[in-house]
Amino acid sequence: MNTTNFDLLDSQLRALLDGERDSLAATSNFVGLLYNALDDINWLGVYVLRGDELVLGPFQGRPACVHIALDEGVCGAAASTLETQRVADVHAFPGHIVCDPESRSELVVPLIVHDQLVGVLDIDSPTTRRFSEADQAGIEKLSESFCALQESRKYFI
Ligand code: SME
Repeated sequence: MNTTNFDLLDSQLRALLDGERDSLAATSNFVGLLYNALDDINWLGVYVLRGDELVLGPFQGRPACVHIALDEGVCGAAASTLETQRVADVHAFPGHIVCDPESRSELVVPLIVHDQLVGVLDIDSPTTRRFSEADQAGIEKLSESFCALQESRKYFI
């Protein structure tokens, strides 16, 4: 059962990133904080929008695929629709890209800074149906906090 306290995590995120001017450092700590706070996940990281593709950014977990086109995979679907993708069973998602064969479910949240897509947050779990609606809402709120903090910085990674 998921016991994440998203309000506490949001306060921790703000305290951790407040005043940090370096975007790469802030993104790395965002990823590190979430990876260690969420139960039952095997990969968590950011893919950054570079031109017309997503490129691997700071992450925790096994080495992953580096380039994802916007019409590929769960990450590409989140980036091209600007909608969170909550996938209960990755094997049932057409075009899912296998990075870690242990992954069974996935949550991908678009990251939007100054009204522009800058990348996606991707979280994988070895458990089917790991992410509830409440998890989605909590992780979207954390991502919004992260993006709002990024708005004070001149660039995104
Ligand atoms: N499964 C993702 C690819 C990235 S890895 O999970 C780290 C996708 O289908 O877009």
